[in-house]
Amino acid sequence: MAVAHLLLQLSAGVNGASRNRMLIPAILSILQLIHLAGVDGAASFRFTNACQHPVWVGALHGASSPPLASSGFYLARSATSRLDAPSSGTWSGTFWARTGCAVDSATGRFSCATADCGTGDVACQGRGPAPPVSLVEVTLAAPGSGGQDFYDVSLVDGFNVPVRVAPSGGGGDCRPAACAGDVNAMCPADLRVVASSGSGGVVACKSACSAYGSARYCCTGQYGTPATCRPTNYSQVFKSACPSAYSYAYDDTSSTFTCSGASSYDVTFCPGTGS
Ligand SMILES: *[C@@H]1O[C@H](CO)[C@@H](O)[C@H](O)[C@H]1NC(C)=O
Repeated sequence: MAVAHLLLQLSAGVNGASRNRMLIPAILSILQLIHLAGVDGAASFRFTNACQHPVWVGALHGASSPPLASSGFYLARSATSRLDAPSSGTWSGTFWARTGCAVDSATGRFSCATADCGTGDVACQGRGPAPPVSLVEVTLAAPGSGGQDFYDVSLVDGFNVPVRVAPSGGGGDCRPAACAGDVNAMCPADLRVVASSGSGGVVACKSACSAYGSARYCCTGQYGTPATCRPTNYSQVFKSACPSAYSYAYDDTSSTFTCSGASSYDVTFCPGTGS
């Protein structure tokens, strides 16, 4: 907006209507370019469902961040959708895919086989997912601040669907973060969540923390620091399937990604093995 105001003042200062007729379209197309590049605007989140099945996206804003326009929505196979981050201030939040969702014909309640948010509705309304769930975590710097965004894929609460988050249009490292591998197929028997109806296949893989609740697996108590909470035989299963995702709470060194001024974050469910 400030840029637009300045450029229009400049064009008004040029003598002669004929020059203005040339200048104004040129200025408008420059402004369009600036807008497309996201220089003066907030980032958007673009969701793509590349899975062979529908997903119901969940979106949860951080405690000190405003909610987005939707907290949960249906995303058909091959469909895309978009949510915009707020135009000012920092924003943090998480995204995930729910699977195996249906409305109970007797009660009218909506619920999902994995990552249900417990509202009985497609909207999650400020509630988070029930683990196991693959989480996309994002913290965006205030638009125009030049600060860094942080993003990651976390398997700290287990895994349900492969997912990738990739910035576009930013500067800096800006690599995609992903868990593209099918952890369900390699899930240790004692961590498997099996579909209650249908095929009986593995629909999700618990974290060792939620399966056993021990301080060692949960990085709590005497294991509550990066130095004392080390990889375990369970976290190593997640790490080998998904090297760039968090496999346990203090798995920071290989799992946090940064980018500055990205215009969008593309969240793809079932991205395939390409990055
Ligand atoms: C991990 O180690 C524990 C013993 O420390 C063992 O009981 C368990 O079966 C192992 N799990 C895997 C997946 O290797």
